[in-house]
Amino acid sequence: MAGGGFGDGGNLKRAHLYEYKITGYFIFSCIVGALGGSLFGYDLGVSGGVTSMDDFLKEFFPNVYERKHAHLAETDYCKYDDQMLTLFTSSLYFAALISTFFASSITKNKGRRASIVVGSISFFIGAVLNAASLNIYMLIIGRILLGVGIGFGNQAVPLYLSEMSPAKVRGAVNQLFQLTTCLGILVANLVNYATERIHPWGWRLSLGLAVVPAIVMFIGGLLCPETPNSLVEQGKMEEARKVLERVRGTPNVDAEFEDLVEASREAQAIKNPFQNLLLRKNRPQFVIGALAIPAFQQLTGNNSILFYAPVLFQTLGFGSAASLYSSVITSIALVLATLISMFYVDKFGRRAFFLEAGAEMFLCMVAAAIVLALGFGDGKQLSFGVSVFLVIVIFLFVLGFGRSWGPLGWLVPSELFPLEIRSAAQSVVVCVNMIFTAIVAQFFLVSLCHLKYGIFLLFAGLILVMSLFIFFLLPETKQVPIEEIYLLFENHWFWKRYVTDGNQERSSSEHA
Ligand code: BGC
Repeated sequence: MAGGGFGDGGNLKRAHLYEYKITGYFIFSCIVGALGGSLFGYDLGVSGGVTSMDDFLKEFFPNVYERKHAHLAETDYCKYDDQMLTLFTSSLYFAALISTFFASSITKNKGRRASIVVGSISFFIGAVLNAASLNIYMLIIGRILLGVGIGFGNQAVPLYLSEMSPAKVRGAVNQLFQLTTCLGILVANLVNYATERIHPWGWRLSLGLAVVPAIVMFIGGLLCPETPNSLVEQGKMEEARKVLERVRGTPNVDAEFEDLVEASREAQAIKNPFQNLLLRKNRPQFVIGALAIPAFQQLTGNNSILFYAPVLFQTLGFGSAASLYSSVITSIALVLATLISMFYVDKFGRRAFFLEAGAEMFLCMVAAAIVLALGFGDGKQLSFGVSVFLVIVIFLFVLGFGRSWGPLGWLVPSELFPLEIRSAAQSVVVCVNMIFTAIVAQFFLVSLCHLKYGIFLLFAGLILVMSLFIFFLLPETKQVPIEEIYLLFENHWFWKRYVTDGNQERSSSEHA
């Protein structure tokens, strides 16, 4: 078997031969590629605000509107429990998780750019439909199209960024996706704050402005080069080599190009990448990258903190400005944290961030549970001091998530898989992430209602479990060239048994 196969450690020696400069062409591609995140972020950020606008509720959810105002006096854990509205929010994630599988074959056969362009078109139409909605059907169809946009964008963008970057800075570059996601959330919240005062159609503007990131991404998708990995995968060798030389800023790309070609040769032999994903030899990457990390990212409880923060801020007495303050504070924490992670993740590594930030997040969840247990519920209001303490806890938690599970929840899966199953794997990553995003969005408020402060203890327990998982089972991937990651599993105390057996499996299927 040519180098690059399992059991052949020879390639690792070639990595030091990779040459690169940070070129303008590379920076341009990355910035445009990363804009895909702003589409995702705008959506994450916009729904919460819009679903709490009275004009919007009166038009589409009159019952909810009445309930909202009838319940104003309530201050306990169940105040915001309403399945109808959360279903409106989560429907987008359900659409995203299904569409991402269609995205997989386009990303693989037509390239990463094609998926980015398709995603932006669907997102554009969805945003227009939403802004013009006359009835609930238009609203839901719009949401579904937005979900399709996200399914495509989140499938292709992380791959695009990971493949474009030289191994040494791959972590930082991939995190541009998270950075633009967080900026998208921030912008959406600011927009909501402004449109809330425009009666009775401000919500249309909020939903409609999503066309802006969609247009930018569409144009960017047309102008950007395809990744060399994808061009090789499509058999466009000359073009691939040209792009690689241009992106790396040097004609000396032999070593890296050979690795790409070899990885692609192996990929050609694979007829059904989804089936291949389940093979024993891919078990480590599958379990870590496609199942555990995307699910755990959501089970940290980050999104429920983001969504619930406005309520806490209201208790603080910020009144109608509460959601603005909370979203600005949490979005700023997210952006800051992403920057920290971007600058240091290729230096200190992925494991270090997962573990130290995990400890911080664990402590924050326990602290939140304790103060809520002592001072909230059964008609008790939070005192000012306790509320300030909670705001600090939220800030620290978000800062922790934002430098670890947030960005790494997308980065690590995108760099784990061999080329032959990378696109298929990324679909499973998006799918699992979206399932858990939807579940948390759908059930957090009802769980809060029943488990009360216990929900935060539950998240603390989950964070402990996921940190142990990282500690024992995730090998460090920093600065390892993407086509050589699989070698890490051959020497891993636990995973090596799967990979070694995988050799036999691979050869038997090749000889069959
Ligand atoms: C997550 C989202 C989250 C966002 C901001 C992303 O990485 O996938 O669910 O809302 O970060 O925290």
